[in-house]
Amino acid sequence: MLNCLERPRGEKSRSDSSPGRRGLWLGRIALLTLLAGDVGLTAPPFYANTFEKVPSVKDMTAIGRALFFDSSLSASGKMACATCHDPAHAFGPPNGLAVQRGGADGRVQGLRAVPSLMYTQNVPPFTEHYTEDEGDDSIDQGPAGGRTWDGRAQSAHDQARLPLFSPLEMANTSPEAIAQKLQRGAYAAQFRDTFGGKIFNSTDLAFKAVLMALETFQQDPAQFYPYTSKYDAWLRHQATLSPEESRGLAVFNDPAKGNCARCHPSSMREHAFPQFTDFGYVAIGVPRNAAIPANADSRYFDLGLCGPLRTDLAARKEYCGFFRTPSLRNVAMRRVFMHNGVFHRLKDVLRFYAERDTQPQKWYPRAKDGTVQNFDDLPREYRGNVDREVPFDRHGGDAPAFSDADIKDLLAFLNTLTDGFVPAQNMRRPQDSLQLVLNLERAQEKAGIKILPLGKWLEGLPFQMDRGNTRPAQKR
Ligand code: HEC
Ligand code: HEC
Repeated sequence: MLNCLERPRGEKSRSDSSPGRRGLWLGRIALLTLLAGDVGLTAPPFYANTFEKVPSVKDMTAIGRALFFDSSLSASGKMACATCHDPAHAFGPPNGLAVQRGGADGRVQGLRAVPSLMYTQNVPPFTEHYTEDEGDDSIDQGPAGGRTWDGRAQSAHDQARLPLFSPLEMANTSPEAIAQKLQRGAYAAQFRDTFGGKIFNSTDLAFKAVLMALETFQQDPAQFYPYTSKYDAWLRHQATLSPEESRGLAVFNDPAKGNCARCHPSSMREHAFPQFTDFGYVAIGVPRNAAIPANADSRYFDLGLCGPLRTDLAARKEYCGFFRTPSLRNVAMRRVFMHNGVFHRLKDVLRFYAERDTQPQKWYPRAKDGTVQNFDDLPREYRGNVDREVPFDRHGGDAPAFSDADIKDLLAFLNTLTDGFVPAQNMRRPQDSLQLVLNLERAQEKAGIKILPLGKWLEGLPFQMDRGNTRPAQKR
């Protein structure tokens, strides 16, 4: 499997405004697609224990955490996973840049905004035919799942290969390079204790340990899916929403207004807390972002599912412009929004939803003849793929589906999705968020969704994780 990935030879990066940029970008994209091409689809039983020692989840989580923050794991020696996925920002970008800088010299700019890594524990593997509607298999909801904005990685461990070897990110040239660094590094002994004394005798095994530890760390409930927002507290009857927040929730759910819950579900199902994403793909036609250097080439389009980073669906023109719906949990901690980072304030995102079709001239540039170039980040032939249902069912000059006052309320509501809310003393009850995750998995399983749920995943492992106190959740 590892050998299937052609390693890019540490490409020398140039300043982003150098004249040869056009060819360089297309070259980089070719490299990236090479990297992504084979990932996950023919995976051998990754979770089979091939280590000398059976690693415990606790030890792997500790190593995964160390790896996640270890900048010596990058070619530049300056970039860790946490550089882009900052725990202080819900494991999302630490700044307002549309794309981060990385690569061998730490100066190459990426192609997409950094997503949060929180609440991704239940993202199913990519499928073109998602069926989820209360167990009714006959309703095909189309493509869903997979990691990254276009779902080209099947799991968190497959995903980790991408940044480790991407010339735009950590820019390592081979698994050997990583294994050697670790063998000389500060926690080599910890590796040996966890996976066995001979772990560094095989690069394949050492690299598998890296991927597995990173994935295990990202499955840590306390860090990645604590369900401690005010909204969660409200669902548990441990908090009340202010009038503004309640109105915002109503607009969010109202099929005639925000209709946000159509794609970002907000209610409990089968006692499981909502993820604020249905994991589905849709084109919403966000404006092109000139701040992404690759976009200086007018022939370059990031079309999501149909390429160019993802290659297997290149022929499916009906998918062009489709990106995975992100969770909105902790969204107020972000300073950059959408796959291309075109928006920098949550308020602007909400305005875009309200005005995309009613006042397109505010969002898209005009051509020389004065016509507004709607959906300018898509080639003309794919503009018909863009979603047209509420709140996107309007025409130029119509009243928007929701008002400025609604936008204020929506903002207040979205702010209740930030983790770290502490319920008032008299409202506190012992809760166990892990139970809620397990409930969600059960609901998904009942609906016939094939996922790699935490519970299953752990059962598949040759070791057991301490699930702690699993007290039943309060209903709402
Ligand atoms: C240079 C910045 C950068 C670094 C460093 C980086 N990432 Fe990312 N990460 C991104 C971007 C950008 C994406 C979105 C990629 C895409 O859609 O093609 C992403 C996506 C992901 C995703 C998918 C999330 C989802 O919702 O599907 C995971 C998981 C992830 N990264 C984990 C890691 C791990 C683990 C590391 C360290 C080994 C790491 N990242 C290092 C920028 C970075
Ligand atoms: C048709 C499905 C759909 C509907 C309806 C929808 N969204 Fe989204 N939302 C998406 C998709 C897909 C993206 C990512 C689009 C992209 O990056 O190109 C997104 C992105 C976002 C983001 C940016 C998140 C981030 O991490 O960058 C916010 C905020 C958001 N939506 C809020 C809302 C709100 C509020 C509503 C209701 C007014 C709403 N959405 C309605 C599908 C939808």
